[in-house]
Amino acid sequence: MTAEPSIVRPPAAAPDERGGTRRDQPRRGRPPARNEIVRNGRIGGLEPEHLAGRFGTPFYAYDFGVVTGQVNELRGILPPAFELAYAVKANPALAVVNHLAGLGLGADVASGGELALAIRAGMPPAEIVMTGPGKRDTELAAAVRSGIRAVTVESRGELARLEGLAAEAGAVVPVLLRAAVPAAVGLERVRLVGDDGAGKFGMDATDLEVAAAIADRSPHLDLLGIHAFGASNVVDADVLGDHVDRTIEAACRLAARVGFDLRLIDVGGGLGIPYEPDDRALDLTALEARLAAAGARLARSPATRATRVLMEPGRFLLGSAGAYVARVVDRKVVDGTHVVILDGGIHHVLRPALVGQEHRIRVLGAGGPKAFPVTIAGPLCSGLDILVAQAVMAPPGVGDLVAVLDVGAYGFTESMPLFLSHPVPPEIAILDGEAALIRRRIEPEAWLEGQAVPPWHAGAQGV
Ligand SMILES: Cc1ncc(COP(=O)(O)O)c(C=O)c1O
Repeated sequence: MTAEPSIVRPPAAAPDERGGTRRDQPRRGRPPARNEIVRNGRIGGLEPEHLAGRFGTPFYAYDFGVVTGQVNELRGILPPAFELAYAVKANPALAVVNHLAGLGLGADVASGGELALAIRAGMPPAEIVMTGPGKRDTELAAAVRSGIRAVTVESRGELARLEGLAAEAGAVVPVLLRAAVPAAVGLERVRLVGDDGAGKFGMDATDLEVAAAIADRSPHLDLLGIHAFGASNVVDADVLGDHVDRTIEAACRLAARVGFDLRLIDVGGGLGIPYEPDDRALDLTALEARLAAAGARLARSPATRATRVLMEPGRFLLGSAGAYVARVVDRKVVDGTHVVILDGGIHHVLRPALVGQEHRIRVLGAGGPKAFPVTIAGPLCSGLDILVAQAVMAPPGVGDLVAVLDVGAYGFTESMPLFLSHPVPPEIAILDGEAALIRRRIEPEAWLEGQAVPPWHAGAQGV
């Protein structure tokens, strides 16, 4: 699970006549246009009703042009020593990973399943790093077999298991050692819900040094450097810059103390995006200056002149490229509260309930003539299934389409699609005015396949 920001509810909004919430409008000046999938009521430039007719609702759509734009923006600010590996966990759709492989990015995978997916999507194994606590032997063995760029080791125990598997395979495995951020690199914490993982990520400074010495001596391990993930959804360039600086300093100190050749420093992901209308966007110009300074420091020292720095963004590349589109099936007023019920909800977009973060919602169509507070909910028998509560907007009517924005990262993949046996939405990619199905809808009947009534039950059916 990614660390996520706690919600800060925007100030109470006033009615607005345009079919959006007043919170959609800037309070001071006009913010720069966002690179996002829904523009002028169209989805990736296409007519929403046309997409809904072709693919059915609800559905997820990703604008690959927006993804490419985000990649280009980020690449544009990186110094020469820096590289990008896409954090597959943000959106593991095969087509998404394939698109990013096509743009020349590497991948950060967090499981054997993601490793297999990234390779199938066309990522060269030499561009894949594997990170995450609790890697099973089968997953480590797959990483050894595949010849990936680096396995990020999270504990001394995992290091020993990896070394054993590498020895069995007669291989030499490149490794990064994951530093537990508060102890090892002293990142100033950004207050996030569940951000520190209570010690589950990485090693403290003592273990890190012991592990580095072991890895450095092992004939089956090739110690490249360290990995440190700071915090997720950070929109403050200085917080990100500080994390990069501290990770680089920690890596240099460790390499000097243990005496290994520092070739790779993985600073993780965490680049944030605005979710709510008044949220700040990451200042890429400020980040560029911080990264340039870090790159220059590395270039100045003979020991680090050839050291590469890997960033693992997920959210920044995919977040605004995705929308979840659902249709209004009911509308009512309950004790004065206007409620709109969609044919999809938090079983497909869990994030609002999971981290208390509201996403912007767009009515794709005219909406009603008057704006007033409206709650938009899904069809689940759960009070948690609320996408926005009391948002001031011109409400959609039954049959209208609405889009939940900024769900390209940690949207579908972080949800719970089996809850209440509704269909699982299809995923659609859009590029240059063309839409393609990249994952088909799953009807509930399909889940019955693979299920069985136990054999002791009269009339039992096998799997
Ligand atoms: C190890 C690692 N790398 C990269 C990421 C991607 O982070 P983000 O999507 O915030 O950029 C994560 C997210 O949890 C992570 O755990």
